[in-house]
Amino acid sequence: MANDNLKHTDWQLIINEIANEVRPLLNEGKVADYIPELANVDSNAFGISICMLDGRAFSCGDAHTKFSVQSISKVFSLTKAFSILKDDLWKRVGKEPSGNPFNSLIQLENENGKPRNPFINAGAIVVADCVVSNTEDSLNTIIDFIRELACNKSIKMNQAMFRSEKAFGHRNAALAHFMKSYGNIEADVDEVLDFYFGHCSLSMSCEDVARAFLFLANHGVHPVNKRRYLTASQSKRINSLLLTCGTYDAAGDFAFRVGMPGKSGVGGGIAAIIPGLLSICVWSPGLDKYGNSLAGVKALELFTTKTGISIF
Ligand code: DON
Repeated sequence: MANDNLKHTDWQLIINEIANEVRPLLNEGKVADYIPELANVDSNAFGISICMLDGRAFSCGDAHTKFSVQSISKVFSLTKAFSILKDDLWKRVGKEPSGNPFNSLIQLENENGKPRNPFINAGAIVVADCVVSNTEDSLNTIIDFIRELACNKSIKMNQAMFRSEKAFGHRNAALAHFMKSYGNIEADVDEVLDFYFGHCSLSMSCEDVARAFLFLANHGVHPVNKRRYLTASQSKRINSLLLTCGTYDAAGDFAFRVGMPGKSGVGGGIAAIIPGLLSICVWSPGLDKYGNSLAGVKALELFTTKTGISIF
């Protein structure tokens, strides 16, 4: 649908309808519990927010409840690392879908410690190292950066989540040490992991997340504060990676059903964008077998079906 035809779209009505239609699915997914603190959530929750480039925002359901952003935060650390290292970043991390679960160790040895892409855990840990090795007070730097993107100074880490991730993060520690043995982690492994667990442990609402993604819908410039965070080319590249790798080994199915670049997290959130128009975030904690929100993917599929907009 051309943007001109969208002037009269009743966005609020559309998201209200979506919330009603996905309700029967809320109990079908399984809440993540491999980080024990993640299980401490209402499995019936559902929220959805849209932020438009023209400043309007529409929300429904539990859109103002804070949830654990988890892997969605990898997009913010990637943005930071990409703006610091530019294309040198791709010497350290690849750009191909992995076709494997997000926390898999299998490919790393065959590929000499260079992760397939920045969104699987191994890739995000390399990205974390790039930020830690190139910024002072890196965790506070990334939290302030995310607050600025979301236009919300009150965003903070959930300390219980952080402790839980750290206590049960053996696979991530294994990935980090393994990559260190190949020389692909520069900083101290514990410092890199603290940074990674720290940004994954942030609590944000659907509206916070949607607003924080707006710059990716606007060629790298945040439409609210007018700041440029990435060049138009870098913004395009991150969106391309979101489409091909943002939902892990389900990225093909997500692109097929939804048709938007998007990023999921095991807290049940999914953020997605339509360049030139809007950003959207859905949250529902029950996950499918790939670690993506089951009702969340359906909600985004309904969104592009009902509105007729997608990137294609
Ligand atoms: O490292 C982990 O396993 C979590 N902190 C993040 C994983 C995640 O969100 C994967 N997303 N679907």
